[in-house]
Amino acid sequence: MSKSKILFQLSGSIACYKACQVISRLVQDGHEVQPVCTQGALRFIGAATLEGLTGKPVFSDTFTSGRMLDHVNLAKWADLAILCPASADVINRLAVGNASDCVGSLFLAWDLKKPYLVAPAMNQQMMAHPATQESLSKLASWKVHILGTGSGYQACGDIGPGRLLEPEQLLEAIRKAIAGALP
Ligand SMILES: Cc1cc2nc3c(=O)[nH]c(=O)nc-3n(C[C@H](O)[C@H](O)[C@H](O)COP(=O)(O)O)c2cc1C
Repeated sequence: MSKSKILFQLSGSIACYKACQVISRLVQDGHEVQPVCTQGALRFIGAATLEGLTGKPVFSDTFTSGRMLDHVNLAKWADLAILCPASADVINRLAVGNASDCVGSLFLAWDLKKPYLVAPAMNQQMMAHPATQESLSKLASWKVHILGTGSGYQACGDIGPGRLLEPEQLLEAIRKAIAGALP
């Protein structure tokens, strides 16, 4: 598999721990992985884990000294972007072009001719809400690759769709995207 520069963005979901396994595997496969976090993601996972796994400081604040243009430069640098886990909140923000944080800015700066993957993770009711469904449809109409979700037990005790895909399924989607084989 060719080696890629991957912008790996995490948002505030309990599934952040699963994303760490994916990041570790991508690094082991020889890819360069730049971690990006919303402030929400940092409530679930520490920057030390992500920097330790990738060897790169986490980008989480657009106004960080020394990184003032990373909200554009990282979008130019990467071959592929993935938002994983993608919270309901960030999905809805992206769908209205909200650039109030680094993930939103990077999305607007992203050239959608390059693959941008979204891996939703949320409660089944949040997933079914028309706001979320319309946002996912809008993103898909812009050629964003919306990955599926698993169905089953959720942390809140509900059972239904909205679970983050398993690490192997996420890796498979990323490999396909790198190979230009995503539909
Ligand atoms: C324990 C806990 C788990 C959560 N899990 C999720 C989740 O899996 N998906 C989701 O969309 N929101 C989840 N939330 C709510 C989000 O963290 C919240 O909407 C937050 O504003 C998301 O911010 P961000 O999108 O900027 O990261 C959870 C909140 C808590 C306290």
